[in-house]
Amino acid sequence: MTRRFAVRQARFGPRRVGYKERAMERIAVCGSGYVGLVTAACLAHMGHDVCAYDNDATKIRSMQRGALPFFEPRLEAVAARERKNGRLHFAGSAREALPGRGIVFIAVGTPVDPSGDADLTYVRQAAREIAQYGEPGLLVVNKSTVPVETADVVMRLLSRLAPQRAFGVASNPEFLREGSAVDDFLHPDRIVIGCDDSTAAQRLRDLYAPLGAPTLVTDTHTAEAIKYAANAFLALKISYANELADYCESFGAAVDRVLEGIGLDRRIGREYFRPGLGFGGSCLPKDLLALAHMARKSGSEPALLDAALAVNARRPAQFVRRIERTLGDLDGAGVAVLGVAFKPLTDDTRESPAIALAGALAAKGAEVRVHDPEVPAAAVRRALPRALVCRNPYAACAGARCVVLATEWPVYATLDWHRIRAAMDAEPVMFDARNALDAASVRSAGIRYEGVGRCAREPVSA
Ligand code: UDX
Repeated sequence: MTRRFAVRQARFGPRRVGYKERAMERIAVCGSGYVGLVTAACLAHMGHDVCAYDNDATKIRSMQRGALPFFEPRLEAVAARERKNGRLHFAGSAREALPGRGIVFIAVGTPVDPSGDADLTYVRQAAREIAQYGEPGLLVVNKSTVPVETADVVMRLLSRLAPQRAFGVASNPEFLREGSAVDDFLHPDRIVIGCDDSTAAQRLRDLYAPLGAPTLVTDTHTAEAIKYAANAFLALKISYANELADYCESFGAAVDRVLEGIGLDRRIGREYFRPGLGFGGSCLPKDLLALAHMARKSGSEPALLDAALAVNARRPAQFVRRIERTLGDLDGAGVAVLGVAFKPLTDDTRESPAIALAGALAAKGAEVRVHDPEVPAAAVRRALPRALVCRNPYAACAGARCVVLATEWPVYATLDWHRIRAAMDAEPVMFDARNALDAASVRSAGIRYEGVGRCAREPVSA
C-alpha cells in the first residue's frame, strides 16, 4: 500500500466501494421529516434494511401508500423503489420498528423557542422508547440538529432506563439542503461522526464508506458544534452578500460581478453568495438563533451571529420600502408575488422571506396576488389570508402595477415577458428580489427592471 494511500485510508477512511459489497445493517430511523425520510430511503438505497417509524399514524399510512408528506425531488422515486425491493419499511411505533435493529437514527424535530433555547422533548421521547424496545448493544445515533451536550443527555437517559442493554451513542449531524436532499445525502462533502467508542465509530465509518466522502471522527460535543457552526457560517455569508448588495446600490456597482470578483479568491469561494430577500427555512434561522443562545449561555458575546440575524430580519421590510420608493403609496396597488416557498424546489414555507414580504405588502393595502409552483393553495391561504392565490404566474400579473420575484423557481426565468407586459397596467415594474432574471429580456418587453445591487448600467460584456 503506497504511503499516500495509507495516509488517505487513515485520514478519510476506505475508498468508495460498491454499495452491495458492505455488510448489510438492519437500521431504524425515528422521525419521518426531511432528515428522517431522506436518511431512511438513502440508506435503503445503499443496500441496508431500514424501518422508518413515526408516531404520526397519518404520515405512516400515507407513506405506506407511497405518498410522501412533502415535496422533495427524487425522494418519492427512491422510496418507492426501495419499498418495492423490500429494503424500506414504515412503522407507527418504536415497538414495531426496533426489534432486530442494530442501529437507530434519531431524526426528530428540535424546535427553538424565541430565546433560542432548543426543545429536546422529542429527542427525550425517542430515547425513552429506545430504552424500552431497543435490543442490547443497539447503536443510537443522533442525526437531528441538537444543542451541544445532547448526546450526553441521551446517554444518561438510556443508562438510567436500561443500564443492562449497553447501548452505544453517537452524533452524526446531516448537512442536507431541502430541494437537493437526496443528492446531498449520497454525495456529501463530508461525514461527521461524534463518538467516544472506537468500535461504534468504525461501524458508522463502514456504513458511509461507499459514499467515498472525507470522514471526520471526533467527540460528540465537537460533532454537535460542527453542525451549528456550519449553518451559522452559511447564514453569515448570505447576510454579507445582502449587505454588500446594499452598498453596491449606493456605489452604482454590480454586486453580481463584485461577488464573482471576490469569489475567484479560493479562500472566499463563489458558492452560497446570492444576495436577495434573505434566508428562511426550518434550519438557518433556528440554528443561528440557537447557536447565539448557546454562546450567550456560555458567557460569550455572539456579535457576528446577532448581526447576521438582524441583517436578515429586516430584508423583507427593506424591500417593501424600496417598492414604495418606486411606486409611491401601495394602498390599492395590484402587486403580483411570484414564489411563496422559502427557496425553490421545495413546498416548505417555514420562515419564508416571500411570505414576510407578501404579508408586509398586504398590510400596506396592496392587492397581493401570489403564485407558487409547488406550495399547495391551502397552505398559501393559511400563510397569506389576504392574498389571492393564482393558478399561474400570468394570472397573478393580470392588472398588476408591479411583479416581485420572491422565490427563484426555475419556471420564472423563462416567462413570456411580452405576455406579462400585456397583462399588467400602464407602467409595469419587475422587482427581482433574488437576482434570478435576465434584466435585458425583462426590459426588452417594456417592463422596468429592478434587481438587488444590480446597478442600472449594464455590465460591460467580457
Ligand atoms: C440549510 C443548509 O444549507 C444545510 O446544509 C442544512 O443541513 C440545513 O439548512 P436549507 O435551509 O434546506 O439548508 O436550504 P439552503 O439552500 O441552505 O437555503 C437556505 C435559505 O438561504 C433559503 O431561504 C435560500 O433562499 C437562502 N439563500 C441560500 C440565499 O439567500 N442565498 C444563497 O446564496 C443561498
